[in-house]
Amino acid sequence: MNVKELFDIEGKKAIVTGGGRGLCRAMAEALHEAGAEVLIIGRNESVLAEAAREMGAEGAPVLYEPGDLGELDKIKQLYERALAKLGGRLDILVNGAGVQYRAFAEEFPFDEWQRVIAVNLSAVFRLSQLAGRTMLAQGRGKIINVASMTSFFGSERIPAYAASKGGVAQLTKALANEWTSRGVCVNAVAPGYMETALTKDIKTTNPRYYEEITGRIPAHRWGRAEDLKGVTVFLSSAASDYISGAVIPVDGGYLGK
Ligand SMILES: NC(=O)c1ccc[n+]([C@@H]2O[C@H](COP(=O)([O-])OP(=O)(O)OC[C@H]3O[C@@H](n4cnc5c(N)ncnc54)[C@H](O)[C@@H]3O)[C@@H](O)[C@H]2O)c1
Repeated sequence: MNVKELFDIEGKKAIVTGGGRGLCRAMAEALHEAGAEVLIIGRNESVLAEAAREMGAEGAPVLYEPGDLGELDKIKQLYERALAKLGGRLDILVNGAGVQYRAFAEEFPFDEWQRVIAVNLSAVFRLSQLAGRTMLAQGRGKIINVASMTSFFGSERIPAYAASKGGVAQLTKALANEWTSRGVCVNAVAPGYMETALTKDIKTTNPRYYEEITGRIPAHRWGRAEDLKGVTVFLSSAASDYISGAVIPVDGGYLGK
């Protein structure tokens, strides 16, 4: 295959969780712009509908399916509805949806611990398992998990988030070990410090911390959602067929400091 063919994902079918906004919306956009048929999953139906309408204004329509990934026992039905809308085939799964909760560890509410672990880790396993079955039967597929800098270090005041994203990195490798030889590559992207709804409060509530981080990033800026577009298409395409179990930082060089 030449390079154009290697990166070609025209007509591939993709599910992107959390694709209604933020980083995962850019990941969904990237796949759509590259010609894939994309279905986004999220909690808020009107946000999803609006995002699908905007993204689908050009090119193929973008599909959506509302569902709460924190309701672990309903993920199978959610996946089956999404798969049916895509015509029963799935080539790419982006496990992007995630939640955050900040508190000192000694005060961290246990129900928030359970919610963060459910959405950020247990749902990622459950959806990967379901999508994995479809992809293994097809003999081919790409799963992209969304990890974090806290897949590498623990940070502070976000114990559940750090534990969940550490888990996502390990799960990525565990699934890759079982499925790569059967045609299913499982990788993760680890965004660095990105400006989104999840982090926008830091700039105003803790400007010193914000500046401290900016100073540590070799790129001298926080990341933008669009910074994830290239790696998303790469990991979804045949160009990355010999890459599996990798956790790829997209962090402006932060981890190297
Ligand atoms: N913003 C950052 O700096 C940063 C850095 C590293 C990793 N990440 C990760 O990137 C991903 C996207 O984060 P973001 O910053 O764009 O946040 P965001 O809050 O803008 O987006 C999160 C998305 O997840 C969806 N979601 C949350 N809970 C859900 C649930 N229970 N069921 C279904 N969907 C649910 C939301 O609908 C939303 O679309 C997350 O996994 C996050 O952990 C973000």
